[in-house]
Amino acid sequence: MRTSLTFLVVIYVALQLFFSMGCKHDPLIDPYQPPPPPDTTGIDSTDTIPPGMPCDPGKVYFDLQVLPILNSNCAISGCHDPITAEGEVVLSSFRTLVSSGVATPFNLDESKLYKVLIDNDPEDRMPLDRPPLSQDQIQLIAAWILQGADSLWCDPNASGCDTANVSFTQDIWPVINATCKGCHSGATPSGGIDLSDYTGVNTVALNGKLLGAINWEQGFTPMPQGGNKLSDCTIAKVKKWVEDGAPDN
Ligand code: HEC
Repeated sequence: MRTSLTFLVVIYVALQLFFSMGCKHDPLIDPYQPPPPPDTTGIDSTDTIPPGMPCDPGKVYFDLQVLPILNSNCAISGCHDPITAEGEVVLSSFRTLVSSGVATPFNLDESKLYKVLIDNDPEDRMPLDRPPLSQDQIQLIAAWILQGADSLWCDPNASGCDTANVSFTQDIWPVINATCKGCHSGATPSGGIDLSDYTGVNTVALNGKLLGAINWEQGFTPMPQGGNKLSDCTIAKVKKWVEDGAPDN
């Protein structure tokens, strides 16, 4: 009796050993974990967009209004883009901004994002070594924080895209000013292309680079660099304006 019991125990242990060895195929923990790819999409709220939802003029829409300013002035190479992440602050999307902890909902005093814009000390004022944001841009960011620093979405062309009367002042300049000028201005504008006034925009309109770049056509560097493609309606308006001869209207 005792021997057979010992025998069973031996068999049992042997089987256990056998099976546990069979489990050696468990995935090994790879000591090198590559870092996750940087977030360059900037898209956080678009997956829940109710199509055709009109914009409320009393609200600030992060992806439509705030993000273009950040992309053009802050989330640039060497500063707060996902690769440099200066000071561990990444301002290329709503998600990265929130995890950088620079905006406290409803509280300007506790929001570094706002405080650095109005700092009087040129060593601390952002964007560093660049012209300050305009009062309108600073006010918009303040309004967004006071609204709750949230990510709302609306369809700016909910009532259709009107390309009949496109004007530089009304339709083109606001987009360039918010989305492009941050990189394309100053002493060394990106790519040697200065878009800080009508003349500069007119030049790239007439040489074909403007449409090539915003349409993300092959052979052109897609613009806005690192940002979302402009909306179909904005691109249609730019196209119409270029076809009209890119007038200063
Ligand atoms: C984050 C910085 C940044 C922003 C924002 C940006 N650009 Fe650029 N842009 C660049 C850089 C850098 C280059 C040079 C790229 C190259 O040479 O490959 C460039 C190149 C270009 C070119 C030349 C493209 C070509 O292939 O010849 C055009 C036109 C242009 N940008 C227009 C725009 C417009 C219009 C916007 C706004 C809708 C914009 N950019 C926003 C950084 C930016």
